[in-house]
Amino acid sequence: MTFNPLEEKGTPIDKQLRTWHDIALIPFNKTEVDCYTRTRQILMNGIEVEAWNFKHNFARNCNDEETNRFLATTKRIEDMQQTTVNWLTPSDQSILETTLGYEQVAVDLTAWMAQNEPDKYVKETFDFGLLEDFDHLYRYSQWAYMTHGISPNDIVQNQTDIILGRPTQNHHNCNKIRLRKPYDKENTSPQTKVNLYTLVSAEQQTHNYYAEHGMEYGNQCIRETYAEIKDVEEEHVNMYESLIDPTESWYEKLLLHEFTEVCNYYTCMEDEVDKRIKSIWEMFLDYELGHLQFAKELFEKHENKEAQSVIGSEIIIPNRFKSQKEYVTKVLESQIQKRLTNDKSYANLDDLPDNWGSYKVQEAVNGEGSPTENVIRIITAAKGRDLVIADEKLKADYPKLLEKGLENKSLAPDTVMPSDIKRMMKEEEIEHECE
Ligand SMILES: [Fe+2]
Ligand SMILES: [Fe+2]
Ligand SMILES: [Fe+2]
Ligand SMILES: [Fe+2]
Repeated sequence: MTFNPLEEKGTPIDKQLRTWHDIALIPFNKTEVDCYTRTRQILMNGIEVEAWNFKHNFARNCNDEETNRFLATTKRIEDMQQTTVNWLTPSDQSILETTLGYEQVAVDLTAWMAQNEPDKYVKETFDFGLLEDFDHLYRYSQWAYMTHGISPNDIVQNQTDIILGRPTQNHHNCNKIRLRKPYDKENTSPQTKVNLYTLVSAEQQTHNYYAEHGMEYGNQCIRETYAEIKDVEEEHVNMYESLIDPTESWYEKLLLHEFTEVCNYYTCMEDEVDKRIKSIWEMFLDYELGHLQFAKELFEKHENKEAQSVIGSEIIIPNRFKSQKEYVTKVLESQIQKRLTNDKSYANLDDLPDNWGSYKVQEAVNGEGSPTENVIRIITAAKGRDLVIADEKLKADYPKLLEKGLENKSLAPDTVMPSDIKRMMKEEEIEHECE
């Protein structure tokens, strides 16, 4: 039996106020939580932040009293939901540990979406972005080890590999080049729309988290790493949001926001292994079904169209979290050399023109070095080489991958070269033989 969200009533909006005690719940235990419970919690926080933020923007552009009353009431509900979800984070989970969780969301969510995305061009963009967040996970893992003495596996629990992706120093593009071609709302499936609304929320919240917390470390090299990666997350928001049809009306966007919330809570509820947290997803799914009813009525009244023509009549699965090692390795080995082009397409490194717009940006921001390269130099000085967790074949391919993925035209002065990696691997081999 299929689940049609438009036919469900959900919890009435006037029954959605909760006590402070029920809003600020007891956090999860960071040593016991399943890594994909944590990724769901991180994602749903991002979804709620976007729902709240969108409604404020809509309200600032709307002079219809009935709509403003709906927005005013549910802005507060979205905000209370955000508190409940985000404050499941325990106070002893460090910023870098949470950061590894954010990048695990980006890698495993984008990989799942890429394999469940009907639009080929959108899928290509997911694969492209995937290799960047994959590299962020590797760079931050070095700091998590050096700062808090943890293995990244304490967070990712062997579900996601820790090894370089497209090198972060090469993620700094001309933001005009990041712009992609938007989908056509009339001829695009609800799956593509929900995938993009979900991913934009996730990337935006990743950006916000780094913006709000990167400065809480005293170590200047860590601060600069956050500054560098935060800027890439800004590029990711810019890139993914540009795929959304800008001619969708406010009411259409409202409908899509509520539908996206419904679909994400539904998937979380289906997949959740923690009983207590599953009951939160169930409760919030019912809240969102209540919001969706109103959004549907407002859309149909103001646009004179059926809501079903936009969101279909079935639930969408946007966030099935599971290990994506095999898929990520495949994309990594075949697409590390891919770059964005001026004509909203993609090209291999060797085919880029000398005046490619992003070279200038990279020269400007990496002029004094790239902090995400520096971190590899720092960990190498401390323990002989970088921290890598992947299967033996992928590990053996490492220098070759770096060679293929690195832009030679705009190298940061402190770049760790493939020859450096080969030397580190050799030294490690000799060390093992002597043991
Ligand atoms: Fe919500
Ligand atoms: Fe990232
Ligand atoms: Fe990202
Ligand atoms: Fe909502």
